[in-house]
Amino acid sequence: MCGIVGYIGELDSKEILLKGLEKLEYRGYDSAGIAVRNEDGVTIFKEKGRIADLRLAVEDDVHSKTGIGHTRWATHGVPNQINAHPHQSESGRYTLVHNGVIENYHILQKEHLQGVEMKSDTDTEVIVQLLEKFSNGMTTAEAFRHTLSLLHGSYAIALLDSEEAQTIYVAKNKSPLLVGLGEDFNVVASDAMAMLQVTNEYIELHDQEMVIVKKDSVEIQKLDGSIVGRESYIAELDLSDIEKGTYPHYMLKEIDEQPAVMRKIIQAYQNEQDELEIDDAILSAINKADRLYIIAAGTSYHAGLVGKEYFEKIAGIPVEVHIASEFGYNMPLLSENPLFIFITQSGETADSRQVLVKIKKLGHTTLTVTNVKGSTISRESDYTLLLHAGPEIAVASTKAYTAQIAVLAITAALVAKNTGHSVDFDIVQEIGIVANAMQALVDSKEEMEQVARDFLATTRNAFFIGRNLDFCVSMEGALKLKEISYIQAEGFAGGELKHGTIALIEDGTPVFALATQKAVSLNIRGNVKEVVARGANPCIIAMEGMEEEGDTIILPKVHPLLTPLISVIPLQLISYYASLHRDCDVDKPRNLAKSVTVE
Ligand code: G6P
Repeated sequence: MCGIVGYIGELDSKEILLKGLEKLEYRGYDSAGIAVRNEDGVTIFKEKGRIADLRLAVEDDVHSKTGIGHTRWATHGVPNQINAHPHQSESGRYTLVHNGVIENYHILQKEHLQGVEMKSDTDTEVIVQLLEKFSNGMTTAEAFRHTLSLLHGSYAIALLDSEEAQTIYVAKNKSPLLVGLGEDFNVVASDAMAMLQVTNEYIELHDQEMVIVKKDSVEIQKLDGSIVGRESYIAELDLSDIEKGTYPHYMLKEIDEQPAVMRKIIQAYQNEQDELEIDDAILSAINKADRLYIIAAGTSYHAGLVGKEYFEKIAGIPVEVHIASEFGYNMPLLSENPLFIFITQSGETADSRQVLVKIKKLGHTTLTVTNVKGSTISRESDYTLLLHAGPEIAVASTKAYTAQIAVLAITAALVAKNTGHSVDFDIVQEIGIVANAMQALVDSKEEMEQVARDFLATTRNAFFIGRNLDFCVSMEGALKLKEISYIQAEGFAGGELKHGTIALIEDGTPVFALATQKAVSLNIRGNVKEVVARGANPCIIAMEGMEEEGDTIILPKVHPLLTPLISVIPLQLISYYASLHRDCDVDKPRNLAKSVTVE
């Protein structure tokens, strides 16, 4: 969480930093700040709230060609102006911004900083105070490397030294950080999107590296001071990918992009003969495994539940799906030849990464399914499958979820083909049908808005029920609704509701029931009757061919295994409109962040 930026060059840095931070707000948005350096020294502006609030606080007449900035998702210390970054050392010589968590900050404070008066409650302030302490008798580079060598935890840091106008020092461990290159300027940022406004050429940094960034040079050092050479790369991103365009919210744009993402995934995984193909090494790693362990968090976990059905039903491989934050600290007995599949949109989620680190120590093979090429979890695992969904900016995940499911379906189908399992459908053709069905659904926004009005206008809570694959989607539907509209929502297996939770059904309680699975269609209809008998207001979302009179939404027919790709679309749209109707911040719901890099 938290996003950092830095600029050193010839232009006024303020606007570049603020624009960069706006693009990083998905990483945290409870407070923000910038520090700019000019001949008068370093000036800090920081505010509780959004970048828009910070913008108002930044004085127009302060000009500077060097600066750093930060947008925060609070971990240590409440979100307020004092705890907002940048933080400064006691004398004011050093100013820094930090993304990550310093686990041993208390110990370091006790050992090295007795007598230093801390201004904030943050772990970050310890870094800047240590630096000042060690700078006595060392150069800034030496003091910085020494400080870094004492830190346990994760960090991406950008640092200004008021005695050195021409330099920004940066460092990275476990938290993402890139250096961007330009003519007569260089930048640093937590991700490429933040600085796409000025450059698309980047250098990736590795863990435990420190970098001396000047306007015309970039020197990467290891913590022992040795210099590292590294080529730059061009970020394959377009400004239009990260702009809202005419959409009122990123979430709506991203919901609408789903049909195109389906087609893009097919293209990306097709070879010159138009046949689907993934790396042979990945197929062989999956074939060798006696069991797949899918590890993920949040929406990606829900996609993993669907993925389990695919690998088991299409390819005949047993699968377990685990919540990352649980798995790392309570590992089940593993099979003899496990393969671990990490599903993560961002590729940065700390809960998933800590499992990856443990699994690598055990020597098992790992595959990451991610939307972000070069992300930490992707780099650290043996293999990667990319989602090709384009940047997802709204905190509530939509197109990444359906992209994850599509990539898992393709992988399962290819594994099945490879191992001689009979697959009785053409996955390319079926995903094409899905894309058309998605288009029809995203085009029926008015209908979905009306459903949100009819069922969710005043309710305190809502239930989502389904069986088999519909159960997996019910959980995702409930998560979407609660995270952006703050309506208490639960996703339940249709048959399980009566074992306790049905006690919560009152007159008018909305129950969204998915009916896309023929084998259990009578059962789910029975479950709907049970809740209706207790006063529930049912919204039945049924697959064409299985509909009954009184159903609210009819989904275009797709292959029964691929229904999660389309049944989720009305749920995304209904949640979107429920959030809008309640005046919530759709793209940046309270208390959340897109990329959760703390455990
Ligand atoms: C955060 C986001 C969720 C996301 C989860 C996992 O909590 O708010 O939308 O599903 O992290 O993220 P990942 O990037 O690993 O898929």
